[in-house]
Amino acid sequence: MCGITGYLAKNAPQFVISALKMLEYRGYDSAGIATSNSKITIKKTLDGIDELGKNLKTKGNVAIGHTRWATHGKVSLKNTHPFTDCKKRVAIVHNGIITNWESLKKKMKNHKFSSETDSEIIAHLIGEQIEHGNTLLDACAKASKKLKGSFAFLAIEKGKKEIVGVCNESPLIVGEGDKIEGFSSDINAFPIQIEKIARLKDKEIAYVGRDKIELFDFNLKKQKIKWEEMEKKRIRLGEIFEHHTIKEIFEQPKVIFNVNMNEIKNAKKLLKSKRIVILACGSSKHAGEIGAREMFEKLKKEVKIEDASEIDYSPVRIDKNTVIIAVSQSGETADVLRVVKKAKGKGAKILSIINNPYSTLEKLSDYSIHLNCGQEIGVGATKSFLMQVLIFKLLSGERIDLKILSRELSKTIKGNLSRIKRISKWMAKKRDAYFIGKGKWKWAAMEGALKLKELSYIHAEGLGSGELKHGPLALIEKNSPLIAVGDNDSASTWNNAYEAKTRGAKIIGIAPRAQSFFDIWLKTSARFPLMSAAVNEQLLAYYTAVANKINPDRPKNLAKSVTVL
Ligand code: AGP
Repeated sequence: MCGITGYLAKNAPQFVISALKMLEYRGYDSAGIATSNSKITIKKTLDGIDELGKNLKTKGNVAIGHTRWATHGKVSLKNTHPFTDCKKRVAIVHNGIITNWESLKKKMKNHKFSSETDSEIIAHLIGEQIEHGNTLLDACAKASKKLKGSFAFLAIEKGKKEIVGVCNESPLIVGEGDKIEGFSSDINAFPIQIEKIARLKDKEIAYVGRDKIELFDFNLKKQKIKWEEMEKKRIRLGEIFEHHTIKEIFEQPKVIFNVNMNEIKNAKKLLKSKRIVILACGSSKHAGEIGAREMFEKLKKEVKIEDASEIDYSPVRIDKNTVIIAVSQSGETADVLRVVKKAKGKGAKILSIINNPYSTLEKLSDYSIHLNCGQEIGVGATKSFLMQVLIFKLLSGERIDLKILSRELSKTIKGNLSRIKRISKWMAKKRDAYFIGKGKWKWAAMEGALKLKELSYIHAEGLGSGELKHGPLALIEKNSPLIAVGDNDSASTWNNAYEAKTRGAKIIGIAPRAQSFFDIWLKTSARFPLMSAAVNEQLLAYYTAVANKINPDRPKNLAKSVTVL
């Protein structure tokens, strides 16, 4: 997902640079900033935000910035935002996908384009309107009516102290503080000075300038601004945490108290007598798989679970009798949004389990259960995964004493930390690892494998323990790491693990009780075995990454939110 931000304030460029730094966690290929004084000045980089901020003239009261995750056009400086019109009177930054950009471009033969992107068309459309004598606000409204697709963009004009923000199907939030106004695509990238915020709805335009903030629809009909107080919990790495990922793992015994029991109770009503289809990707899908089994086990509810990127090829019926449970930490995963929009068109109801309440998925949902686990900066899902599993357990009617759960999770961390730090040095030298479990534990195994591979770059395979002898056992060699996850009813998993041991595998057992053949035992809570197993897997992945000298917060090639299809 691209990040957009812009400020009207003294030292506006500095606010933009620090906002772009706070957007870094979502992943990007390039970044750029535009400032407007007597002329529009643009700076772009492929070498990171710090580079962009170097020797930047921080003077100036108007600035917009962008972090780009390439979709249209390769990673290059010329494809990096901001873009200007031909006469460099207007600069824009954009997040989303303009679907009719090529047909618009064909009608603008007299314009000179500098990039291969869809976004640049916006600057030229606005520049054309400015040429016809329109104000920036009018020009943006006229240009927006010509655009199709998803777009949130900011526009500034040479010599003018104003910023216009336009929103349609991509997130955009306007904020205000003492002598500062601005925009952001991510609430967590606002500086502490912003005291209140308002989320733009689709087809809305916000004007910031001349000491006022106004909101309009695309016909420039004034709209009421719904301000919300900005309670700012600054996220800083203290001296005890080297990375966001380990901080977020350690936060889990605390964040579980934020689960909103009211939302769970209300959501249960929505699920009554409807066909349920859980929709998610990645770790959220693993949580959904566990949730589907919890709901079947406890409520005898038949629940379908689909990978959002696969559902078009899956024999699942979605109609007005369906409830889609869309599970997404970011609320911006493109595959999930795409299917949710289609499902709404078929009359399905949307219940989302979501962390970011200012996201596109939130806007599309009939009802949301919020993770409330705070911003998750590490690309690897940790606390969000645990909260998703907890919410599914509560949705399926399990009675959970959060104080006991918190204590058990803390005990798990304290009890296994030094052992995990030790084995991670051994694990870091391995090329492959195997995670096995059965039933809902298969999905705990899949999650453990995903964590290890995405954080430490060790190829890890998660599989149902019964599948081992149907092929993967051929890969087991002397000292192959095999992580077996389960609880006191997982005898068949332990049998499968033992088969691997007789062929040379080193067995790491993650369970409430040790089996005699475990080479290493990571003890879990007998009351909450699966959630405490997840914490062990997260710690193992984190410390293996650190042993491999990899920054676990930002694994290569990955973004925190996959907003492109
Ligand atoms: C998990 O560690 C990954 N970061 C990834 O699989 C993630 O769970 C997936 O992209 C879904 O993201 P979402 O929950 O924001 O929709």
